[in-house]
Order: sequence, then structure tokens, then C-alpha cells
Amino acid sequence: MRIAVVGGGSTYTPELIDGFARLRDTLPVRELVLIDPAADRLELVAGLARRIFAAQDHPATVTATSDVDLGTAGADAVLLQLRVGGQAARHKDETWPLECGCVGQETTGAGGLAKALRTVPVVLDIAERVRRTSPDAWIIDFTNPVGIVTRALLQAGHKALGLCNMAINLQRKFAGLLGVAPEEVHLDHYGLNHLTWELGVRIGGPDGTDVLPRLLDEHADAFALQLRMPRRVLDTLGVFPSYYLRYFYAHDETVEELRTKPSRAEEVAEMERELLKMYGDPALTRKPDLLGKRGGAFYSEAAVALAAALLGTSGGQQGDGSPGSSVQVVNVRNEGTLPFLRDDAVVEVPARVGREGAVPLSAPAVGPVQAGLISHVTAYEDLALDAALHGGRERVFKALLAHPLIGQYDRAEALTDRLLAHNREYLAWA
Ligand code: G6P
Ligand code: MN
Repeated sequence: MRIAVVGGGSTYTPELIDGFARLRDTLPVRELVLIDPAADRLELVAGLARRIFAAQDHPATVTATSDVDLGTAGADAVLLQLRVGGQAARHKDETWPLECGCVGQETTGAGGLAKALRTVPVVLDIAERVRRTSPDAWIIDFTNPVGIVTRALLQAGHKALGLCNMAINLQRKFAGLLGVAPEEVHLDHYGLNHLTWELGVRIGGPDGTDVLPRLLDEHADAFALQLRMPRRVLDTLGVFPSYYLRYFYAHDETVEELRTKPSRAEEVAEMERELLKMYGDPALTRKPDLLGKRGGAFYSEAAVALAAALLGTSGGQQGDGSPGSSVQVVNVRNEGTLPFLRDDAVVEVPARVGREGAVPLSAPAVGPVQAGLISHVTAYEDLALDAALHGGRERVFKALLAHPLIGQYDRAEALTDRLLAHNREYLAWA
């Protein structure tokens, strides 16, 4: 099995390598190609990757290159985990929206739009290359904003799925509370990437007993504390919201907090400096604990499980017993799953994954609180993708005006000005 990772010089990569090494029976990786334009980082990360494999007697070879065509040639799967503009661009996404009273976040709100505009053209260019070098390869996209990027890939006819680690994290969290193995827990996880709710938590598979009411009953205070939302909100919802919902349910409160502390990008940049120093140490032969402070925990598990199901090497995470396919949470075309959305919208839902791709399971009823916000954000995502593909100030303004966290013309104008001013070097049309 040959796996290529675009953005392979990321400080996150050792998390992935650790997963490949531990889960070799699920996904037998023989050749790993790390692709990245940052040669110095790439060497450090590739060196550590080789040591992690060697320390665990894993036979995979690790190649490093800056050449996407060369690196993706003959790949069975191509993982995309790039960040256009690095933490410096992320820092801007997280700060200028605050000047307008809006949340500053890398995927939610105006910052997320800026990220989409920078990222979609780069990802589409890479995907075209993959189509030429290895037309049968699956593209697994972790690159944020995952919903919009996945939609861009699918609309251009690529063999792609989007992946986020939110669901696998929650699966593990609930399994811990229930005292069962994570594979035993099936999540009724519905919505858009970074805009999801657990509508049910089932033991034993998609048809298992729903224990979410019990979990909410027993742990509501702890959940409220972790999500930093009043318990009253959880009681009213009656389902478990992802922590990204705090940007909606407590928008103004979050803005005030974000104004008074360093951005997440600054924190991460500091960690990255430390991590890169560690990666240069030839004595280091495993993933450092510091990586656990990043948001991407367990993304290697999710990636291995998804690649294994797509390439037919094993069952997968939420194993339902049937050979050759498994149920996993992915970003995929809606196709009627959420009946209030168009078929070509990209949703984040449990799907049966096999060599042919992912087919969403049929969804339970989604209440108006969720359906309203999902519809609203989908409309924004349509417009965001249009702006990313075709450019132009007017399209940016329209997407911001349509965003449920923005909505007013004066804010949308001020945000448009800032978005363009801070991102000109990345936007060919600006
Ligand atoms: C979560 C999200 C990812 C996001 C990450 C940020 O894992 O699902 O999409 O990239 O958090 O983590 P960071 O450590 O960079 O803040
Ligand atoms: Mn994510």
C-alpha cells in the first residue's frame, strides 16, 4: 500500500505515523510519501517518521519530496492536511473578525471564509495532479474548512471524502463513560463539518439501544462545563452539540473572551517551535506527548480506519460485522440524507464505507433547532465555494451577508474589507 500525505511536513504528521505503526494490521502501509514545500520541516518530520517505524519494526519506507506529481504517483490514497499560509495566516483569521464584533476562528465565520478562499484553489490544483498521476487513488481530505473543501473536490468529480476527528473523539469519550470499547459505540452524528450534534449514542451498532438520554441525564453538568454552555442549553436541546456550536449559542461571550487572550494560532506556533526542536533529536523515536495538546487527537485512528475501509484492507472503527465495509463518520454528498438540504450539499454523517466509497445511513428526524442552522450555514457554504472558485469582492460580501453569525450589511462590508486586505497575497483575483 502506498500512501501520500500532502502537507506531510506538518508537525501533526507523527500522530499519523504513530497510527500507521500501531494499526499495521488494519492498514498495511509499505510506502509513505510525505509531500511538502517546506524542505527544512519536511526533513525533520520524515526523519522522525523513519525512526518511529524503525523503533516498532515496521517495514514501511518513508520518502520526502516537494514535488506533488512525483509524490502522488502510484498512490493508493492521498491524504490532504495542508494549511495555506501556515499559522501566520490562521492568526489573522482568528483576529481581524474580532475588530468587527464577530468570532475569530479558523473554520467558523469570516475567518473560515478567508481560509476557504486561500485553500480551495490550492487543493483543486493538487487533486487535478492526483487525477493524472494516480486516477484510482482515494483523496481523504482533512484540510479545513473540510465541508467546503470536500464539496469543491466532489463538484470537480474527484474520488474524495472529507474527514474530521470530532466524531471519533466523542465516540471515545462516550465509550469511556459507558465502560465499553469505542468500536461498540455508534454515534447518530449529524450536521455539517464543525456544526454537528449527536442525536443518539447507540451501543452495539446503528440499530443498538440509544443511551444518549441516560448520558445526558447522568452527566449534564459535566458536559455543560466541558462545552462551556449553561446546562439549560443542553436540557433544551436534548442532544449533544459539538463544541463548535458554542460559537453560535454563545457568540458574543466568545468574542469577548477571544479579545483578551492570545490567538490559538499563537499558542500552536509556540508548540510547533518546540515540537520541531524535539523532532530534530535523533534519540526521539515516538510521538511526543506535547502533540496531545493539539486539537487533532485520534485523527490517525480515523484516517487509518477510513483508508482501510476504502482500500478494502479491513472492517473499520464502528465495525458492524459485515465484511468489506464499515460505518464511519465522513463528509459526503447529502443525497437525501438530510431531506431539507440539496443532494449536492456536503454533510458530516455516519456512512457505510467500502471500496466503492461512502453511502450515508438513513438519518433520524432532525429537529428544527438543528435543521434551521444547518440550512442557513449550507447556504453560506454554497456562496463561500462560489467565492473561492470565482473570486470577486461581491461574492465575498454576499457569502458573509448570508452567514448566520454576520448577517448585517455594515458588518459584512467591514469584514469583506479586512478579509481582502489580509489575504491579497493568496488570492489571484484580489
Ligand atoms: C480539531 C478540528 C480540526 C482542527 C483542530 C485544530 O481537531 O477537528 O479540524 O484543525 O481541532 O487543532 P489545533 O491544535 O490546531 O488548534
Ligand atoms: Mn475538524
